[in-house]
Amino acid sequence: MSSLEEKIQEFQDIIDQAKHIVFFTGAGVSTDSGIPDFRSQDGLYHLKYSYPPEEIVSHHFFVEQPEAFWEFYKDKMLNLDAEPNTTHKFIADCEAAGKSLGVVTQNIDGLHQKAGSKRVYELHGSVLRNYCTSCSHSFSARWIKETHGVPRCTECGAIVKPDVVLYEEGLSEPVLSGAIAAIQSADVMVILGTSLVVYPAAGLVNYFSGKHLVLINRDVTPYDSNADLLIQASFSDVFPKLHV
Ligand code: OAD
Repeated sequence: MSSLEEKIQEFQDIIDQAKHIVFFTGAGVSTDSGIPDFRSQDGLYHLKYSYPPEEIVSHHFFVEQPEAFWEFYKDKMLNLDAEPNTTHKFIADCEAAGKSLGVVTQNIDGLHQKAGSKRVYELHGSVLRNYCTSCSHSFSARWIKETHGVPRCTECGAIVKPDVVLYEEGLSEPVLSGAIAAIQSADVMVILGTSLVVYPAAGLVNYFSGKHLVLINRDVTPYDSNADLLIQASFSDVFPKLHV
């Protein structure tokens, strides 16, 4: 069994030799920015609410109980003052250095772009985009946060919806096909901070046929045995020791 230091060195060697890295990220990359993930002990899905949080972020709940949806969403999912951390910056630096094809993310917080990443495939959308469900007028996340109760369109009065993929909703086809193309063209895939239990996102791992599959996560995932290099650690113990 190699030590954490040896594994970090092995990861550094893979990064040094890589030409086309694709990153695949989940909520765990943003916990160091103060945004809770979903399934860890202190994650959103362990919160005690009047409804199970997993049900609140579903399409039928958004339609049937908009007040309760928006109360939870504004309180727990709109983290507008969060700043990117070392992991987001490392991913952006790899792209700036011409080593990366981009980042496929399940995150909706916009922190990859805030860190400087340009090619970001947002599988589950973004809290930063919000549209009227009737006339498609767009609204900023800051405006959403400051509304009282259910946000209603200033132009036509219909309910506004965040451009976030809720349970029971499909993923954007162009985003999905862009993500698959990036994964298929990569020589290295680096999976970070995801429990890999939500589909179809998790299934995208199966499109990778490059040289090295690296998986870094604090907890076990169903794909651990697929990884060529598995680092079970916190990002704060890994990324500050790496360079692009
Ligand atoms: P999860 O909360 O399921 O998984 C986050 C993973 O990150 C966990 O396995 C943690 O062990 C790991 N983790 C957290 N902080 C870490 C740290 N500092 N260092 C290392 N590892 C860390 O989040 P996702 O897999 O992203 O979907 O969840 C997938 C989807 O489920 C989300 O996109 C969301 C949710 O329902 C929708 O809302 C549609």
